[in-house]
Amino acid sequence: MLRARITGTGSAVPDKVLTNQDLEKMVDTNDEWITTRTGIKERRIAAKDEYTSTLAIKAARSALEMVSVSPEQLDMILVATVTPDFPFPATACIVQNELGANNAVAFDITAACSGFLYGLSMADAYIKTGAFKKILVIGAELLTRIVDFTDRNTCILFGDGAGAVLLEPSEEEKGILSTHIYSNGNHWQLLYLPGLGTRNPVTEQKTMDERLYYLRMEGNDVFKYAVRAMGDAATAALEANGCTADDVKLLIPHQANRRIIEATGKRVGIPLERIFVNLHKYGNTSAASIPIALDEANRSGRLNPGDLVLMAAFGGGFTYASALIKW
Ligand code: COA
Repeated sequence: MLRARITGTGSAVPDKVLTNQDLEKMVDTNDEWITTRTGIKERRIAAKDEYTSTLAIKAARSALEMVSVSPEQLDMILVATVTPDFPFPATACIVQNELGANNAVAFDITAACSGFLYGLSMADAYIKTGAFKKILVIGAELLTRIVDFTDRNTCILFGDGAGAVLLEPSEEEKGILSTHIYSNGNHWQLLYLPGLGTRNPVTEQKTMDERLYYLRMEGNDVFKYAVRAMGDAATAALEANGCTADDVKLLIPHQANRRIIEATGKRVGIPLERIFVNLHKYGNTSAASIPIALDEANRSGRLNPGDLVLMAAFGGGFTYASALIKW
């Protein structure tokens, strides 16, 4: 049976670090509050001349270099992002151009923080049919461009970054075992960006006056839904493969809040020692969080051949998703 296998991983974050102490000087907050409520200590913030594509391209090059695959060999580039360079064209097309991936089809996926796992699910399906062979899935975000740095409820949470994986077909019993993707549009207003689209065009005064170009979030409601949704998605992955939590070598959850991660682990039955956490360094990088974590886990030797790796995400929409991989 043909499976899609992750062969290369890469990631990139901006150089500039924004610490909790820096935020103390910007809004009424403190390191102790942010650390205990979220687990975040610092996040990366892009320079003025860095865009979502800048980080996406760096992460992509790093994943391709790992396995010596050239951009011309790529058949498809998927970029999951809610902070594209432009409303159109797709950031994936900008990445394609910069890489010189002239034989690839390229498009973006909008599924907020679940975007990377949505992309993985699509790539898996395309590879299994045999229609496409080498697919690059990238999660890339510059969330600090849509965050209000005068709103302490949101500005402490988010950061910038990108992660990429290369997927290739494999005849071996290795690779993506299953993906599950879900949406629940009933709650879209709990986490969204009101401006910059067609409802509140940037050309209207209201968009400026009401600062509609910054994301809005009902933190408490999002928190509760996130724990349930990530837990359900992760459990679905285990059940579909006849596995238990004990079989999982590493859970790589979306990095939104340490308390959400811990509660998800508890719900699924995976202890913290087997959960990958790096949000203290980067905050919530939305679609980029899982591929950055996966790349760090891969490069630091935490993944061995045959390991079962479970990934689970949750994001605006609401969207949620999981993937189970045999490394
Ligand atoms: N510094 C200090 N105090 C803050 C603060 C900050 N940065 N942000 C909020 N507070 C205050 C609130 O104003 C509130 O004060 P009050 O009791 O006087 O009204 C108090 O802290 C508690 O706020 P609350 O919202 O209940 O805190 P919380 O424990 O729910 O934590 C979040 C807030 C945002 C960290 C948490 O709800 C969360 O992580 N939600 C999920 C967000 C998320 O992951 N979004 C992306 C999903 S992909």
